[in-house]
Amino acid sequence: MRMLDLIAKKRDGGSLSAEEIHFLVKGYVDGTIPDYQMSAFLMAVYFQGMTEEETVAMTLETAHSGEMADLSAIEGIKVDKHSTGGVGDKTTMIVVPMAAACGVKVAKMSGRGLGHTGGTVDKLESIPGFRTTLDQKEFFDIVNRIGLSVIGQSGNLTPADKKMYALRDVTATVESIPLIAVSIMSKKLAAGSDCIVLDVKTGSGAFMKTVEDSIALAREMVSIGTNAGRKTVALITDMDIPLGFEIGNSLEVKEAIRVLKGEGPEDLTAVCVELAANMIHLAGKGGMESCREQVKQVIADGTALKRFRDMVEAQGGDPACIDDPERFPKAAFCYEVRAQHTGYITHMDTEACGIASCLLGAGRETKESSIDYAAGITLKKKTGDYVTKGEVVAEFHAEKEAFFKEAELRFQEALTIASNPPEKKPFIYARVTADGVEK
Ligand code: URA
Repeated sequence: MRMLDLIAKKRDGGSLSAEEIHFLVKGYVDGTIPDYQMSAFLMAVYFQGMTEEETVAMTLETAHSGEMADLSAIEGIKVDKHSTGGVGDKTTMIVVPMAAACGVKVAKMSGRGLGHTGGTVDKLESIPGFRTTLDQKEFFDIVNRIGLSVIGQSGNLTPADKKMYALRDVTATVESIPLIAVSIMSKKLAAGSDCIVLDVKTGSGAFMKTVEDSIALAREMVSIGTNAGRKTVALITDMDIPLGFEIGNSLEVKEAIRVLKGEGPEDLTAVCVELAANMIHLAGKGGMESCREQVKQVIADGTALKRFRDMVEAQGGDPACIDDPERFPKAAFCYEVRAQHTGYITHMDTEACGIASCLLGAGRETKESSIDYAAGITLKKKTGDYVTKGEVVAEFHAEKEAFFKEAELRFQEALTIASNPPEKKPFIYARVTADGVEK
């Protein structure tokens, strides 16, 4: 078999067999297929797409390119959750304890921040002492004992995805629906859970900017998961506005605690209840309406918050910070951002809000940069709110006053203020299952 022929076949709109896909993924990982040939293949996929069979085969090959986590030492049904990434997306820290409080096991591997989006591992590490690297025995023991644990991604999972993602990043081939589906689902399959709930974000702060593209991505991922024998559901949720009011690591942990106490903002709470309800529904805890009620109950009776506190304690974090979030270290400087016009906020460029938070120190500029856990943005106004010129729209938190100027420029540019109120958008657009799309 020759890689040259496979590139030509895809370029001309053909489809590759499972054997051909095995040849190209294996060859790329072991170095016999060079970057330039893989780049040409990825670009051919970008233009020609892939059939469902090809996408499934490529996902399975990518998943099996490294270790496949074996979670059989954890009793019960294991449920995973994945978000395609957004701004202010602290849902993992909320839905994992909710699902665990409802009797489902969650052994979750999460990532660090990527570009303008934050990552759960960074957020959890803002809790003093919290360890996101555990050996397998401790990870499994914690899940068996308290029902949940969240750690960083094991270095041995999906080496093919690591190599391909880095190549896509520099060859303008990230934005391909089948390639994103392969990348995400290979990691989910390798992570070993029985059921998978996907949160596919849509809008200006997401990879997918339109609902149609988000649904197309969700359908591909649900089909891959289902074909691989995992119960898989996807929700399409809004990321055309930051989720909740806090952007930045410890700020987001504090907001997650508020949601777990039943005192969180409406958008974030609604999305989390729906995600957690889908997680326990897949695990067989009842119909969707009953699952929503169970999730609301574990918020109301404090058991979801207790599960979060238990996880923090088990992973070396300071539980006193969960009991009293005022104990989290604060940024040295706080700055109030004021509206430049009077009117309704009709749009927030959410990616730009994420970049402004990174400029304050909440994200990394390079892989090696350190992050300031206390830095970020507290929104005081969001899309749909009426503001008068000079009114405070956000608070910036940073270690150095010098960071405020550039971050404010980005943030002000992100806001559109006009005289008429915008149309209200739903928090959740659709639910995609193996049976189809519910809007
Ligand atoms: N997240 C991933 O893990 N992979 C992609 O390709 C895009 C988003």
